[in-house]
Amino acid sequence: MSIASNGYQSGFGNEFATEAIAGTLPVGRNSPQRVAHGLYAEQISGTAFTAPRHANRRSWLYRIRPAAMHGAFTPFAQPTFHNDFGTGSVTPDQLRWSPLPLPDAPTDFIEGLFTMAGNGSPAAQSGVGIHVYAANRDMQGRYFYDADGELLIVPQQGRLHIETELGVLEVEPQEIALIPRGLRFRVALPDGVARGYVCENFGAMLKLPDLGPIGSNGLANPRDFLVPNAAFEDVDGAFELVAKFQGHLWRADIGHSPLDVVGWHGNYAPCKYDLRRFNTIGSISYDHPDPSIFLVLHSPSDSAGVSNMDFVIFPPRWLVAQDTFRPPWFHRNIASEFMGLVHGAYDAKAEGFVPGGASLHNSMTGHGPDAATFEKASASDLSKPDVITDTMAFMFETRAVIRPTAQALDAAHRQRDYQACWAGLRKHFGAK
Ligand SMILES: [Fe+2]
Repeated sequence: MSIASNGYQSGFGNEFATEAIAGTLPVGRNSPQRVAHGLYAEQISGTAFTAPRHANRRSWLYRIRPAAMHGAFTPFAQPTFHNDFGTGSVTPDQLRWSPLPLPDAPTDFIEGLFTMAGNGSPAAQSGVGIHVYAANRDMQGRYFYDADGELLIVPQQGRLHIETELGVLEVEPQEIALIPRGLRFRVALPDGVARGYVCENFGAMLKLPDLGPIGSNGLANPRDFLVPNAAFEDVDGAFELVAKFQGHLWRADIGHSPLDVVGWHGNYAPCKYDLRRFNTIGSISYDHPDPSIFLVLHSPSDSAGVSNMDFVIFPPRWLVAQDTFRPPWFHRNIASEFMGLVHGAYDAKAEGFVPGGASLHNSMTGHGPDAATFEKASASDLSKPDVITDTMAFMFETRAVIRPTAQALDAAHRQRDYQACWAGLRKHFGAK
């Protein structure tokens, strides 16, 4: 049982219109007395009804049955996926993890989610949950939606076939998927196993950054975001609808597939983006710009210029700056930084930060290149450019401190010797 991709439309936050059966979409109105083909009309709103036009997001769905049709919800046990990061003390230590081990027992995408850290809460509509996943089977007879946040999915190993109410996203490592809050979906694993990262954004919807002096092009270009064409299944059966609501999971019986939207139009839609299409901009004279130059998408907060969450990548690029320490510099930051590695190696660490791994450097915690990287970069020949290939690191950066979960701190795959990577930095002061 699978829905095939019906292709994509291009753009970010545009008004899209798509129908899997010709003549589905009404003309000149959203909710006619009778919808074509005996379908129901239903709106999904991702922003307040009265949000300003430039920020207003909603879509109209024309579907076989309304979303209201399912049984009562009861608690669903998945103890490693939650938002319980709001209490207790938080260590200012630098933290790092090896990849989450792939499961032995049959584990689908929902069962394979493991919450690493987070801040804020769904109730406050602010903050993020940061999760990793490792799975080895398709979601079978199970559909999911997250009422608490938009999901930014960053696959690291294995493709994801994501069937949503609005169409199918086929996503591979070095691509990302964005699933809007509330949208129902199912994940299949074409490669049998999959691992990656998920940022659950409780705050304002992710958007493309303004470009300021960069001009009208650059960074992630809107046309490279792909939104699925409508695709649906008309299937009855004993299925399960799993919801994440206010930090916890719930399940309800549903007697049909909720992926039954035959046509839709609007600007509230899932999408995917290939990180390899990012137009990377950096210094061509001296110094390393702030990593905000690598911003792909951000969730604004109520304070101008301060994000609830920034999604930043460190892609392949040329380093040409003169009289400059070329890797990312040592620093401390009021923001908090959760990093992952999708592919290859990261240029500020010689070892220990591997694809599927993660690090967390919280507010004002000192960090930067390890001793081996410092020695190498300090002695490198700046008369030639360096080119970094085979890399794709990313960062979820938030204004609020990122609070690790107890299960992340206690995990066997946490690297308890992480701080040793800086121990070899030698004192050079006074050297002759
Ligand atoms: Fe940093």
